[in-house]
Amino acid sequence: MDNWEPLIQAAWEARERAYAPYSKFHVGAAILVSGEIFTGCNVENLSYGLTICAERVAVGTAIAAGLQRIEAVAVVADTELPISPCGACRQVLAEFGDPWVCLANREERIVFRLSELLPRGSAGILDRTV
Ligand code: THU
Repeated sequence: MDNWEPLIQAAWEARERAYAPYSKFHVGAAILVSGEIFTGCNVENLSYGLTICAERVAVGTAIAAGLQRIEAVAVVADTELPISPCGACRQVLAEFGDPWVCLANREERIVFRLSELLPRGSAGILDRTV
């Protein structure tokens, strides 16, 4: 993955639309598939547990558009250190490949492969060998 700029920019724009009245913590995510960008922001709920992270909203947007292989993901928040996806989002992303993941704040970018963040993520839940 050589040019993160458009993906990171799209993630910042999506972050503007975060619905986070409870935590006030706004997150944006953008996914690259087949040259197209799909975005998501976090969507909170009064019942806190029903909150959906920006990453999973972006996955839903891409899948609903008919795409199924995620190549790269950018996640942004205005924090001191870049944030990183929760375990649930890592597993949902792993369903659709082993994308590059760029975690960014206003100054810094850290790039991983999803499989570094979730080793053996493609092992089925019934696979007892791992
Ligand atoms: N959140 C995300 O959207 N993505 C992350 O990677 C971390 C956390 C959201 C969930 C919740 O709305 C708020 O940030 C606080 O956890």
